[in-house]
Amino acid sequence: MDITALAQTAQALVAPAKGILAADESSGTIKRRFDSIGVENTEENRRDYREMLFSAEGAENYVSGVILYDETIRQKGADGTPLVDLLRSKGVIPGIKVDTGATPLAGSPGELVTEGLDGLRPRLEEHYALGARFAKWRAILTIGDGVPSEKCVAANAHALARYASLSQEAGLVPIVEPEVLIDGAHDIETDQRVTERTLREVYAALALFGVALEGTLLKPNMVTSGSTAPNRAPAPEVAVRTVDVFLHTVPAAVPGIVFLSGGQPDDEATLNMHEIARRGAEVNAPWELSYSFGRGLQALPLNAWLGDAANVPAAQKAYLHRCKLTSAARQGAYSEALEEELAAV
Ligand code: 13P
Repeated sequence: MDITALAQTAQALVAPAKGILAADESSGTIKRRFDSIGVENTEENRRDYREMLFSAEGAENYVSGVILYDETIRQKGADGTPLVDLLRSKGVIPGIKVDTGATPLAGSPGELVTEGLDGLRPRLEEHYALGARFAKWRAILTIGDGVPSEKCVAANAHALARYASLSQEAGLVPIVEPEVLIDGAHDIETDQRVTERTLREVYAALALFGVALEGTLLKPNMVTSGSTAPNRAPAPEVAVRTVDVFLHTVPAAVPGIVFLSGGQPDDEATLNMHEIARRGAEVNAPWELSYSFGRGLQALPLNAWLGDAANVPAAQKAYLHRCKLTSAARQGAYSEALEEELAAV
């Protein structure tokens, strides 16, 4: 295992001002996105949509890497150029989602465990050969009455650690993603407690499996109030609690923490990112704090595109707008004035 190469890739993914675009929606998830804009979920439409994002000129100033879905890493653009080559020609690192999704955890109604370990070694080798240099595996924890259970946290942490060590063996930087879902009416203290407990268990499992932390990235949720909680905590409180949890649980050897947007409205995710970056600077955080947004970067361009080739320039403009704002936020330089200023361009 070449730890130096893994560490270099991990550092490049969290280079100053840059973060990751998560464009690895499974065909089922992208169907929900396309349904919302009345576009048919065909292979060609999925290709056209993603090619629109990947070819947006200037996005490479804000996006260091893109997480792809298995179909996309094999796809060619309209002119026959593989989408992986399009990304690489701009200096953007291709990544790949390798879990096969979450299934109900036996004996734990309402809880999920992520699958995909069977046959993972040859799949990772194939993805490396296709150009991927990092991977992603998402575990899902739900907050509710008596959940997440210890067993659910343990099962998901174990799977994340096995995935991470297999990824490193294949030369891919594992993005370790334990997402505590925002869904529910829970308060922010509960989210803080559950997120801290989860990360503690995840890092214990990574240690057990001998994962080289220098060659990994963490992709967590921000610590927030539940999406339907009354009196949701404001961004500065989100930032203090989020960074506190990491100070307690994430070793300094980890080069970067890249947040998912987790279904927050894009401006809310961006404002929280901004406050978290500022808090990180305030406490001299040892890791880069950046983004790996799916919906946070894509909601606006998706709604501008609407499946019509004539809308590609407008959709790319919308995408660049979100990229610029999220990059500013990652540097603690986001403001509502900037949001409006860029919207007016
Ligand atoms: P969201 O930013 O939309 O949560 O997506 C990020 C992701 O990759 C979830 O696995």
